[in-house]
Amino acid sequence: MNLWLGKLSKTPPVTLRTPAETARFELESFFPHTPFDLYEQTDMGDAYQIVPGNDGFFSITGGSTGLLYGAYRLIMDTLCGKALSGTVTSEPKYSLRMINCWDNADGDIERGYAGRSLFFRNGRLEYSTERIQTLGRLLASVGLNVLCINNVNVHYPAQLLLEDYLPDLAALADLFRPFGVRLMVSVDFSQPMRHGISTADPLDPAVQAWWKETAGRVYAAVPDLAGFLVKADSEGRPGPFTYGRNHAEGANMLADALKPFGGVVVWRCFVYNCRQDWRDTKTDRPKAAWEHYAFLDGEFAENVILQVKHGPFDFQVREPLSPLLLGMKKTKLAMELQLAQEYTGHQIDLYTMIPMWKELYEELPADNIMSIAAVSNLGDDENYTGHPLAAVNLYTYGLLAWNPDVNAEEAVARWCRMTYDFTDDQEQTLVSLLLSSRRTYEKYTAPLGIGWMITPHEHYGPNPSGYEYDLWGTYHKADRNAVGINRTHSGTGYLDQYPEDFRRKYEDPAVCPDLFLLFYHRLPYDYRMRDGRTLIQRIYDDHFEGLEETRVMADRLLALPFPEPDASVIRDRMNQQLYSAREWCDIINTFFHRLSGAPDAHGRTIYD
Ligand code: GCU
Repeated sequence: MNLWLGKLSKTPPVTLRTPAETARFELESFFPHTPFDLYEQTDMGDAYQIVPGNDGFFSITGGSTGLLYGAYRLIMDTLCGKALSGTVTSEPKYSLRMINCWDNADGDIERGYAGRSLFFRNGRLEYSTERIQTLGRLLASVGLNVLCINNVNVHYPAQLLLEDYLPDLAALADLFRPFGVRLMVSVDFSQPMRHGISTADPLDPAVQAWWKETAGRVYAAVPDLAGFLVKADSEGRPGPFTYGRNHAEGANMLADALKPFGGVVVWRCFVYNCRQDWRDTKTDRPKAAWEHYAFLDGEFAENVILQVKHGPFDFQVREPLSPLLLGMKKTKLAMELQLAQEYTGHQIDLYTMIPMWKELYEELPADNIMSIAAVSNLGDDENYTGHPLAAVNLYTYGLLAWNPDVNAEEAVARWCRMTYDFTDDQEQTLVSLLLSSRRTYEKYTAPLGIGWMITPHEHYGPNPSGYEYDLWGTYHKADRNAVGINRTHSGTGYLDQYPEDFRRKYEDPAVCPDLFLLFYHRLPYDYRMRDGRTLIQRIYDDHFEGLEETRVMADRLLALPFPEPDASVIRDRMNQQLYSAREWCDIINTFFHRLSGAPDAHGRTIYD
């Protein structure tokens, strides 16, 4: 198995109980001839200090999890050929570093592209202990510490995780505990109604009592459960709106139930009208989250974290940072990313996310962002991530959630070095292909900040008008003259949700960065870009370039000596990507050509 820790062969015994014990086991197996000391200092939590001594001796000080993170740091530095040269200290920037699995109890994974669930089979928790341990090890090695195991769309019988399946949940938590990974559970807001209570109104005493009693039972079985994850009033899920209550009232009721046990409520802000009439020009979907939550700033309980998708739509290739992440100063927040390549190539197309994340983290304010979450790209495929190279996204996600200042190139290079036995030149080739893959994908798919030209529902391959007359609020409104939505003050007013300095960067098309141009503005095809090209020519050029870059990428990637089975999977997926890139390029260019009638300045083939 070519995951970055594949070179650690000795499997940890199931008798390990704590992260500190795991740290000792990993170090003894990896450095069998080197003496070391571990000093557990509870108040250090996840932080660690590694001090080198004479003759290779070293000591690590930290909380129990800190010792484990320090141990993996040392092991991974060694795997990368970096000797310990002085004292190393480190602490995470974000306290909860979460993976959200969208796994259903039947073993299916919503938006899963790496096989079936690692946790569920046949409607219940059923798994391979060894694979869970490998997963625990992988997560801990990059500092990830919370795993929400079930889909935010909680379908029956996932509700039973809080009921009949509690002993199974406790057994799974025991397996992850030695890796410092705490479980979290997605809950259904209407769950009390399964138990003879006629309402799920958060202000109803019977509802409150049910959640308190449930929390007591759950924490008796899993005392270190991280908390509950909630998708409410979103895409048909139940929530407080049914009872005329707002989301602070809903979240705080659950928070009250979890408080005695130290649990948190992670409350998702993915709330919008998913039944919009396309004729309605007043509603602009990106405005929805702000409208639902901004006025509640300061109203949420101490142990509520609002989890906000990084952009205002839904994990498109390019979206601005959500205004909620910049504007809700009195509320604890988590930024939600998506490792699962739902709109970004289904783990078929190569799509390395760290360049995108670096852009997001640069804009993220320092103060009230508590945590980082990412929708999982994991499944029970042999290599865990479907495409073997998609594992770089899990690895770098962890690194950045610990320290967003990590250098992207270095992080990717480390992953390559630990995963494959390549020469320096081969490694350099792979690193550069991985780092450029996001921009390439962006070029052959979304033009200049317009998303949603993807096949509806399935979300792979092009369909430029697929969402145009649908009810999801995702329109580009291309006609024969112009394309895009005016989201400035003179248009839908979306940009008004941002602080002034942010607004200034985007409100004038003459200064707005090209790659966001059509997200914020509606412009004619003959609009002159800063580089002198017309808008339509830029759209054509990007698509042709994206396709050409994919062809070059395929040649270079397939010349690398990947071992089997990775080599076959990579070859097969690269061929699918080539096919798809050509479809995207030709269909999007033809779509705009038919509308605009504009010829390509370079006379390349665009179909009539
Ligand atoms: C997207 C995705 C859904 C998912 C939802 C969410 O809309 O397509 O499958 O349930 O996001 O984040 O809740």
